[in-house]
Amino acid sequence: MVSEKMKTFMVGSSVIRAMFEEGKKMAKKYGKENVFDYSLGNPSVEPPKEVKEALIKVINETAPNELHGYPNNSGFEDVRLHLAEKSNRVHGTHYNENNYVITTGAAAALNITLKVILEPQDEVIVFAPFFGEYRNYICNYDGVIVPVLSDTKTFQPDMKKFEDAINKKTKGVIINTPNNPTGVIYSADTLTQMSEILVRKEKEFGHAIYIISDEPYRELVYGDAVLPFVPDFYDDTFIAYSYSKSLSIPGERIGYVCANTKMEDFETVTEALNIANRIGGFVNAPTIWQRVIPYVSECSVDINIYKKNRDTLYNMLIELGYECIKPDGAFYLFPKTLIEDDVAFCQAAKEFNLLIVPGSSFGCPGFCRIAYCVSYETIINSKESFKKLKDKFSK
Ligand SMILES: Cc1ncc(COP(=O)(O)O)c(C=O)c1O
Repeated sequence: MVSEKMKTFMVGSSVIRAMFEEGKKMAKKYGKENVFDYSLGNPSVEPPKEVKEALIKVINETAPNELHGYPNNSGFEDVRLHLAEKSNRVHGTHYNENNYVITTGAAAALNITLKVILEPQDEVIVFAPFFGEYRNYICNYDGVIVPVLSDTKTFQPDMKKFEDAINKKTKGVIINTPNNPTGVIYSADTLTQMSEILVRKEKEFGHAIYIISDEPYRELVYGDAVLPFVPDFYDDTFIAYSYSKSLSIPGERIGYVCANTKMEDFETVTEALNIANRIGGFVNAPTIWQRVIPYVSECSVDINIYKKNRDTLYNMLIELGYECIKPDGAFYLFPKTLIEDDVAFCQAAKEFNLLIVPGSSFGCPGFCRIAYCVSYETIINSKESFKKLKDKFSK
């Protein structure tokens, strides 16, 4: 029999699954090219050519027992050292291999971090709108998710609400910048204020409150926008990173968690992360992909393709009369829905073969997420549908 806890996860998952199934049905009925599926954050840009070259090189040039055997549960030492050296060069940190655990993507990085820091009923603050899987990841360790609504004009966290939400049970704060679903980058000012509040609250409650900075979109930053480096602002920081989006390889499951050296209990925490990776059932990240990382860590997908999509879709929506902020990163737009009921709005969008996700799935009703990691043609060809949707609610 399926456990009660598992049943709650299943109820939550059925919405996304239903949309996926519906998309497939619509494509069959109307033809794939006539369905504008903006529902999934599956990268559309090809991986850089260096990825395939590195993969071939690694397979051809590494001894089988070194390539396919169990590595340290935290990952190959030389690969972790490579990650540390990159961080030291780019961010001026003083990291070494001990700061890193290589994981099966950001999802595992988040899960093992939560496993390490949470007691049952401990609270984790997230800023709405937020990546819906956080609910499940926190629940996996019997933690309690505490959503704090961001300022819906800027989608920067609301500091007053944030401070009010912290109590003695608060053990973690997940931030995600560039953000899914808004595309917004948290400013240096936001991070400074957040850090001041957390330092004060840590003193008040006498224990660490960790920031877990979820950064799978770190490389997807457009124009002159600058992404602040979170450990520069706050010592008790973990970074959860993934190559899923930067290299367009989400199916390969490779990323890492990096614990900042200055955090409370650094040594015990990193030892615990290593064990959490093992006993969580991940054991270690795929060894072939670990070996590929040093060859491709300076590469990223051609972000000009996403930028062109963002500019085209944003301009199109504004021209049609939608209200939306222009984000600096990731591959999502998060416009206001034209009626208050975002679920009904996304349902109505299907009449025009548009698949978009209600903001309430991200804890932020009244908005919808459009994942523009699609072909440029999809964007151009969807204009008429967005126009009809607007007209439907303008009468
Ligand atoms: C905000 C956010 N965090 C984490 C993940 C999980 O990333 P990965 O597939 O690398 O585990 C995603 C994936 O879409 C995401 O959007």
